[in-house]
Amino acid sequence: MVKNKIMIPTLKWNNGVVDMIDQTLLPEIYKVISVKTVKQMWDDIKRLAVRGAPAIGCSAAYGSLLGIWKDRSKSTISLYEKFVKDADYLATSRPTAVNLFWALERMKKTAAESLELDADAFKKILLKEADTIFVEDDRMCRAMGQHALKLIPKRKSEFGILTHCNAGGLATSGYGTALSVMYAAAEAGRNIHVYSDETRPLLQGSRLTAWELEQAKIPVTLICDNMASQVMKEGRINMIVVGADRIAANGDAANKIGTCGVAILAKYYGVPFYVAAPSSTFDLTLKDGSLIPIEERGGEEIKCGFGKWTAPRKVDFYNPAFDVTPAKLITGIITEKGIIENPTMAKVKKMIK
Ligand code: MRU
Repeated sequence: MVKNKIMIPTLKWNNGVVDMIDQTLLPEIYKVISVKTVKQMWDDIKRLAVRGAPAIGCSAAYGSLLGIWKDRSKSTISLYEKFVKDADYLATSRPTAVNLFWALERMKKTAAESLELDADAFKKILLKEADTIFVEDDRMCRAMGQHALKLIPKRKSEFGILTHCNAGGLATSGYGTALSVMYAAAEAGRNIHVYSDETRPLLQGSRLTAWELEQAKIPVTLICDNMASQVMKEGRINMIVVGADRIAANGDAANKIGTCGVAILAKYYGVPFYVAAPSSTFDLTLKDGSLIPIEERGGEEIKCGFGKWTAPRKVDFYNPAFDVTPAKLITGIITEKGIIENPTMAKVKKMIK
């Protein structure tokens, strides 16, 4: 039985600061940093100290409060103006995960609706909204895990599940999206074995997913990204589950670079390919995945990963951090409301209102 200790406190509001695990240091160093300013939160999101779509949303929601929390102004209007400026600034930290914009818009809406309150009550209502975003995320993640249980048979032999990147507790308020499927399965006594792609270039699969599953005592085997075809061919993988950073109205899903390649392999080998994401990850304003902005990151991540040069220093590079898996390669999208089988625009819109 999986114990509560699998719940990793990714981040936490702590009386005017945000305490969060510095994920860049894992798995060797478990360090909690205290984020005190909006600028620091922007930097920590940008450098992936906190990462994963829902966790970015939660951090931004709390982060948007940091500037006004200790401001002694008694003018709600001036606090509001500062708050909106800070929220808009945080929205520039990363472009792909829609949860960032979703959470900040929610905070801004609450702020705009609370202008009649005095300064203290204004701050408190915003903190309550950030707490609600955090708690709702946990509820959605747990619901996804429960919906996915029907996809995992009760059997004696191991049921192999491949995942890419980290869509676990660390990427959310604490229970995970793709990994909620593994956690719920383990809690229900299913005999699963997870294969974790290492996930070049920043190794979220080996540094974070393998670490997180080890903590939870869920059997996990690490593979390099370019081994996925071989392990599928050997019949070790019964199902693939990944997270998402943004899902368009037609079901096309952006996730960590390399995910689309895994989906193509899954199609070839006949392995079901699932995306697990809460409704906060859907962007129904985009008709398809071609409209999802793809973050490009610096060359040092490819050429000098973790401080070791592995390429000629001046060689040209291209480092897109995400790719988009077309809906036609997705067997189903696991949401907190249920599973959207063979997603289409009509089915997505019906499930995610
Ligand atoms: O660049 P990252 O580490 O923020 O990318 C994270 C991912 O791609 C995750 O798979 C995605 O956000 C889903 S998280 C539940």
